[in-house]
Amino acid sequence: MPAKRTRLDRFISARLIINRRNIKAMLAQGRVFVNGELANDVQMLVDEFSNVVVDGKALSNQTPTYIMLHKPIGVVSATQDTKHKTVIDLLDRADKRDFHIVGRLDLNTSGLVLLTNDGLWSRQLTSPQSDVEKRYHVTLKNPLTNEYAPAFAEGMYFAFENITTRPAKIEILSEFEAEVILVEGKYHQIKRMFGRFQNQVVKLHRHSIGEIQLDPNLQPGESRELTQAEVQSTLKKRGLNQIANKT
Ligand code: URA
Repeated sequence: MPAKRTRLDRFISARLIINRRNIKAMLAQGRVFVNGELANDVQMLVDEFSNVVVDGKALSNQTPTYIMLHKPIGVVSATQDTKHKTVIDLLDRADKRDFHIVGRLDLNTSGLVLLTNDGLWSRQLTSPQSDVEKRYHVTLKNPLTNEYAPAFAEGMYFAFENITTRPAKIEILSEFEAEVILVEGKYHQIKRMFGRFQNQVVKLHRHSIGEIQLDPNLQPGESRELTQAEVQSTLKKRGLNQIANKT
């Protein structure tokens, strides 16, 4: 028997015991996610299998689950796509539609992607204040020079979005290879930063997010659940930061 569907505002109102009139404003404030997507229509239909998250708290009875995936090149970091296979397609589990992506990678970037049905965890990990370091191995077309490190550390102005990137680190590993560490994830950020030096990124691979390392046993396309220590590791660091910021 198909699950009974109901309007999103009725669903939230019944669970949180709040007036339906207030729910439109909650959606407008970006506080409601359905199946990992920002909700903008109070009339959308949901059912008991929908993952409805309000202010980072799941309203359904799902067990919070955290997954690491080794994203291959050519797979898109999206929940749905008409042209390419998505990271969700790569998961082999019945509840995979409940998951959303914690920080995307470009189509031609490989490496660590985190997925979860826990909106609070992902929001905290990706918030601009989280300062979680993302590490990338980069292969370039042209030789690297000592000019890169100060420019990456200073930040680069991107006129299109009118933003300056936060200080980033680069460690030169060989003539054409570097390790880049970012604390944010702007659109094509690494490619555009090397673009300033007319140096093309030919290969880009993310191998860690905070203390979570891509498991070397995972082949491209494979995934596994995070251990409790891995889930906690990101929270631990933030806890310390919060304490540090208050003193
Ligand atoms: N920077 C990029 O240019 N692409 C990615 O996928 C990640 C960081």
